[in-house]
Amino acid sequence: MLIDTYGRVATDLRVSLTDRCNLRCTYCMPEEGLQWLAKPDLLTDDEIVRLIGIAVTELGVTEVRFTGGEPLLRPGLVGIVERCADLGPRPRMSLTTNGIGLQRTAQALHDAGLDRVNVSLDTLRPEVFQAITRRKRHDDVLRGLDAARTAGLTPVKVNAVLMPGLNDDEAPELLAWALESGYELRFIEQMPLDPQHGWKRDGMITAGDILASLRTRFTLTPEEEDERGSAPAERWLVDGGPARVGVIASVTRPFCRACDRTRLTADGQVRTCLFAREESDLRGALRSGAPDEEIARLWRLAMWGKKAGSGLDDPSFLQPDRPMSAIGG
Ligand code: 5AD
Ligand code: SF4
Repeated sequence: MLIDTYGRVATDLRVSLTDRCNLRCTYCMPEEGLQWLAKPDLLTDDEIVRLIGIAVTELGVTEVRFTGGEPLLRPGLVGIVERCADLGPRPRMSLTTNGIGLQRTAQALHDAGLDRVNVSLDTLRPEVFQAITRRKRHDDVLRGLDAARTAGLTPVKVNAVLMPGLNDDEAPELLAWALESGYELRFIEQMPLDPQHGWKRDGMITAGDILASLRTRFTLTPEEEDERGSAPAERWLVDGGPARVGVIASVTRPFCRACDRTRLTADGQVRTCLFAREESDLRGALRSGAPDEEIARLWRLAMWGKKAGSGLDDPSFLQPDRPMSAIGG
């Protein structure tokens, strides 16, 4: 098992497959992109599958989520999913994507064994999409979502970040659209993970703001506490249910005490938290010929060092050196 000194057990592994992306969301990347990881530094498909295998067979991981950057940019993605579906016990697998290119690959991903997708979409207005992502790809995302639903990658979840002055008035509109389309919408509070360090707590749209805005048009009733489990999203029934909406209040209502995550970066570093300032290198061990037991030992050791919380509430909080796109969302 992957257990820490606070008794938390990690069963949910997030694997970043690349730090590259075809969008430039303002809360994530600067216009010009970032200094991408060099190819030799990236884990190979074989290395990724081996590490996921160790996590699943030796460390009790039951849930694998592929992230990026944009994971659809990884050429070997379908093959990686296929090989992970053969692991015993078979992990549940999902993909967090911006949806661009999903139209082409949704069916292949489903056939390879992917269970679900989370698609990031912050707005229904093409011009606002362009202002947030700096690209004209709104239509591609909508088509990708549609393809995911058709391929059975369900429930299709949509992640939305609200930005002051850009899309902060869009919550009810987004929810009405998600209900109509059969997607499960979750709002995520903007976190300080942008490399430009532009995040300000004062300006951010909080979970409280989002709920107030939704309540102008919908009746929300909290879902039973025990249904939340370790899921970071607090969920509300919309107009009596069964439809739901989620809010991930990473900043104003952190869920660190119930955290069940461990993360692997595209260059083979274990991180215990998005906001961790430490990493443990597994790639070096892999490439120096370490056996599975040794890698499992290093991973357990990393988990043992997991901090109680993200530290976001501490005035001395320091943003991690890696931006979100290089950690994996
Ligand atoms: N704060 C909150 N969410 C973010 N995401 C990316 N950067 C941030 C941030 N700074 C979201 C993306 C995607 C998911 C991986 O995380 O929109 O939905
Ligand atoms: Fe790409 Fe996601 Fe970052 Fe947007 S938030 S630039 S889609 S990695």
